[in-house]
Amino acid sequence: MNCDKLTADKGEQALIEELLNAGQEHLFADWDAPGVNNDQKTAFLQSLAHINTSYPGGLTGYISNARKLLAEAKAGANPFEGLTPEQPDTVNLTTFDATYDHYEALGQNHFSKTAVVLVAGGLGERLGYSGIKLDIPVEVTETTPYLAHYAACLKAMEARMSTPRPVPFIIMVSDDTAAKTRASLEANGFFGLKKEQVHILKQELVPAIADNDGHLALKEKYKLILKPHGHGDIHMLMHTSGLAARLEHDGIEHLFFVQDTNGQAFNALPAALGVSVEKGFDFNSIAVNRIPGEACGALTKLIGNGNELTLNVEYNRLDPLLRATVSPEGDVPNAEGFSLFPGNINILVIKMSSYVQILNRTQGIIAEFVNPKYADAAKTAFKSPTRLETMMQDLPKLFGPREKTGVSVFDRKWAFSANKNNIRDAAAKHAAGGPSESGATAESDFYHAGRIKLAAAGMDVETAEEKLILGIPFTPGPRVVLRPAFAMTLAEVREKIKGGKISGNATLVLDGKNITLENVEIAGGSALVVRACDGANVTAENLTVENGGFELVPLTDEEQTSAATPEYLKLRGYRIENRAAQIAEFKKPGEYTIS
Ligand code: UTP
Repeated sequence: MNCDKLTADKGEQALIEELLNAGQEHLFADWDAPGVNNDQKTAFLQSLAHINTSYPGGLTGYISNARKLLAEAKAGANPFEGLTPEQPDTVNLTTFDATYDHYEALGQNHFSKTAVVLVAGGLGERLGYSGIKLDIPVEVTETTPYLAHYAACLKAMEARMSTPRPVPFIIMVSDDTAAKTRASLEANGFFGLKKEQVHILKQELVPAIADNDGHLALKEKYKLILKPHGHGDIHMLMHTSGLAARLEHDGIEHLFFVQDTNGQAFNALPAALGVSVEKGFDFNSIAVNRIPGEACGALTKLIGNGNELTLNVEYNRLDPLLRATVSPEGDVPNAEGFSLFPGNINILVIKMSSYVQILNRTQGIIAEFVNPKYADAAKTAFKSPTRLETMMQDLPKLFGPREKTGVSVFDRKWAFSANKNNIRDAAAKHAAGGPSESGATAESDFYHAGRIKLAAAGMDVETAEEKLILGIPFTPGPRVVLRPAFAMTLAEVREKIKGGKISGNATLVLDGKNITLENVEIAGGSALVVRACDGANVTAENLTVENGGFELVPLTDEEQTSAATPEYLKLRGYRIENRAAQIAEFKKPGEYTIS
């Protein structure tokens, strides 16, 4: 080793010794002669020191955790040894009935005691977008980025409080997303939010591991391969930043956790909050019905070892666990064709007081896991370096017998539709019978949620037939966007919309708190957009809208590959063009009628 004293200070020398003792000689084996490439050596040592301080237990702690988990993975250890699975405590909210209304009303009254946590540190490798996922538009009728949509939801929550107060918004970023997330907020005036209500927490990347012996993987001679540690880091950061305790002190009683590209999440918020409040759940997992065998984490109550925990069990572990314990047939369907174990969609409602206690007890350090892809049957080598990861939904692993975990099951497309896959993989996933989880399906489902709201209010909704765009399913219309400012609950939609009809391919966008439509008919292909500022009371009655509307135009082959086409259009394969839609905008308070 040519690790000369010129490049390493005392602390770094001690760390080098520690790493050598931990079997990491290869990190320094190939060093240039003393005095050569000192800048690179210094930067390398600084990066090692930085990771050493940011990971609980330091770098050698990380290496020893990795060795232990890799040995378990190699041995095929059963993490559920001694545990018996049972159906979790579940509240069914898949139909929009009186129960749903009850929980929504309860939840809406709780907005003033709720903060929103957005985990947005992921690389988005599967999507392959060059920017951050939060900047991608969830819909391209008006081109609204996810971040703008989430901000609008927070502002709408505030507008519904009896004494309005900004909803705290915690965004977890990583080195991969931090600068662009900050830039996006700054460039857009924080999307109308107050700067002080937004709290950015940055997670650190962790070193990749090359083999079962826990050797850290090098990208170059003086550079480690670093990778995201998973969204479970949010709990540690909420603790170490002191934010969890501060929010509790400020009167926040629940945290609502969402992911970066789920435009449906806030549809579930009011009812999910209502469930948490009424049932006293410390941890409420928002879930959807799952078909047995479906590749989606299964929420399962696990009983044994003197405890009872409801956890996310990976689908490929659930079936063998059931067969080995309670059900020789494994994961079987109920009368409706669904598994008894609902699918996790990673929207969480966590009770603040229990959260702070657990964080104080555990520093928010979540159980890690490792998922190496082996290159050989004997599991001696990896196809590519792996790393330790954590998942935010694993928080209940830190629970004791007093903490209560429940599951709220929602209609799938109402609560979840993510944009995770590039256009080619999305088409392949659809062809294989799975969900595409792409830009197009996320947008299609966004409009679907709008249609659900109109139908719940009694409007006659005539849905167009699903078609394929570049092999990805898309329902062309009606394309309905009821902005959060217009309504946060179904009860609100019912108050503001009476009767009427909307036909396939039509578009309706309503943005503003005081808009009412009574017996409005929007003909096929036509469009109505109403935007009303606070204090503008807008009514449309007995109106028939007929115009050129918005047209969905598939991209040509040339456009699909052209550098001039925005990337957010390429990842869905179409654009939407205004062909003389009726756009009614009211920028001053007053009484207005649309005709
Ligand atoms: P995904 O499963 O979508 O992973 O993350 P990803 O890393 O963003 O995308 P791929 O796997 O590279 O394609 C689910 C949520 O967790 C966040 C993501 O930003 C997303 O909101 N996440 C993921 C983090 O905040 N940190 C991480 O280390 C990983």
